[in-house]
Amino acid sequence: TIQDKGLKDHAEFPIGTAIKIGSLTSDLELQELQKSNFNSITSTSDMKMNRILLEDGNYNWSRVDKIVDYAQTNNQRLFGHNLIWHSSTPKWVEEKAGKDSLWLEGFMKDYISTYAGRYKGKVAGWDVVNEAFESAGGAMRETVWYNVLGEDYIAKAFTYAHAADPNAVLFYNDFNIERDTLKLNATLKLVKDLKEKGVPIHGIGFQMHIRMDIPDETIAYALKKAADTGLQIHLSEVDIIFNKHNDTRLGGVQIFDEITDEMKTAQAEKYKNLVSMYRNIVPKAQQFGITFWEFNDRDTWINGFFNLKDWPTIYNEKLEPKPAYFGFLEGL
Ligand code: XIL
Repeated sequence: TIQDKGLKDHAEFPIGTAIKIGSLTSDLELQELQKSNFNSITSTSDMKMNRILLEDGNYNWSRVDKIVDYAQTNNQRLFGHNLIWHSSTPKWVEEKAGKDSLWLEGFMKDYISTYAGRYKGKVAGWDVVNEAFESAGGAMRETVWYNVLGEDYIAKAFTYAHAADPNAVLFYNDFNIERDTLKLNATLKLVKDLKEKGVPIHGIGFQMHIRMDIPDETIAYALKKAADTGLQIHLSEVDIIFNKHNDTRLGGVQIFDEITDEMKTAQAEKYKNLVSMYRNIVPKAQQFGITFWEFNDRDTWINGFFNLKDWPTIYNEKLEPKPAYFGFLEGL
């Protein structure tokens, strides 16, 4: 059957995709491709705080329940994205926190315990903290979490998550660490310090929103350094972009107006190299998997987010496999 012919059947580690649960369940063609290629699933946004937590402090679990149900029915690993992220922290939480560290810590403990506890045993792993560092360089991002609780909020978040679901694999997740040495070093220092303090952290997530012009050697270097920690390594949000999106995420620069055959071939090569670097550099026992952030150029977040037209994924707008798909497959 088609179920036996996808990417996942050629891989020795889980192959995942992030997807919007709404389009997944309403679009049967998309669903078919999702089931045939992937054995791991992440929600692009429906598992974030601002989608769950209502202004009156109540929770709306309905979308999370749906994705849990989908993962279980289709025998896929569900990856939780995410528990603490500045960008999905509701405004009202920031306002209520003010400078009140007792309140904010209590709130965080309650949120993480309730959420990770409710889905205990159903979520294989979590991005516990997402993007704690500035886009570039090694400074901590000045979020409400950092500003009110100090750097220790990270240790606390992991501790609460582990208490709520002791079997979940817990990740620190960030972007640009494959190419920004300062940011990579800061991340590695953070996870090493946490490990030394006995904080339950089990993995590093490389978002891997990369551009075509990032040299493979640069990525290989970062993967090696991260793998040397002994932690699980997840390529958690993979896409390969042609145009320039800038690091402050305020927009992008359109360099290519269309994707030529030459570009398609180059992208296929890049996907192939990425997956083979992952296989060759990260020891098998640390290969948590590779996850695409949407798997087709119709649904990719890049275009909307950076106000660009790009082609960063492995399926085209018509949901046909691109050379990138076969490049990835070849690398497996
Ligand atoms: C993105 C989603 O894909 C979009 O739909 C949403 O508008 C913004 O967030 N890094 C992350 C993800 O960790 O949560 C982001 O997801 C993409 C960048």
